[in-house]
Amino acid sequence: MMKSVFDGERRFDFPKAVVLVEDVLRFANVGPNDIVLDSFAGSGTTAHAVLALNKEDGGNRKFILVECEDYADTITAERVRRVIGGVPGSKNAALREGLGGSFAYCTLGEPMEIEEMLSGDALPSYSALAAYLLHTASGVSAGGAELERRNDDGLFYGDGATDYYLLYEPNVEWLCGNEGILNEERARRISAASREKGRRAIVFGPGKYIGQRDLTPMGITFCQLPYEMHGSG
Ligand SMILES: C[S@@+](CC[C@H](N)C(=O)[O-])C[C@H]1O[C@@H](n2cnc3c(N)ncnc32)[C@H](O)[C@@H]1O
Repeated sequence: MMKSVFDGERRFDFPKAVVLVEDVLRFANVGPNDIVLDSFAGSGTTAHAVLALNKEDGGNRKFILVECEDYADTITAERVRRVIGGVPGSKNAALREGLGGSFAYCTLGEPMEIEEMLSGDALPSYSALAAYLLHTASGVSAGGAELERRNDDGLFYGDGATDYYLLYEPNVEWLCGNEGILNEERARRISAASREKGRRAIVFGPGKYIGQRDLTPMGITFCQLPYEMHGSG
């Protein structure tokens, strides 16, 4: 099946047979709305089998595949794209027509080693830390987008309700200095800019010279970056 999808143009050693994986899914009583995880995806047979079963019985099973090698896009995901859209030369009628369905292809960003980050030994890039904080604070994933500092006050993201600010440079001296401090002047600017858009603001930074008691009426929540990152603790 793998051969017919790629018509011999791409090779993968020892792909599993789709019917075999379909049988395993049936045997495991995978229900029509279940999610199947294959964390060693290889040529993507599992996704193919899930889509084939859905096509056969109108099910809505979903799949999550994980592949660490550089063929994750060109073989694993590409096979899934092709079986969804249809493989013109296939002898199998369903495959020729396409199994239908959809999926999102995602890649991981730079790893963040929390212990090294907290010891100040490996400070993450601005965009990596911004993505991490955004996800932790709001559950929002930046996807592949690079989150950049959009102004001097560290605005990096906004949604319908909240503006997110990060005052940060991957530099211990900068973090220990005054440039990243949230003071009253900066807080007033941030408050005015966010209020204009009808939003509140969350500000991540290495320190502040204004109390949360004064920030709250300004619509600002301050979140302290760990002191350990820059050794001020
Ligand atoms: C034996 S193959 C899977 C074959 C697959 N069932 C098929 O039909 O093509 C195992 C795959 O797991 C991948 N792999 C191994 N360790 C991994 C890890 N830690 N994270 C993600 N993928 C991994 C390998 O690169 C390889 O492509």
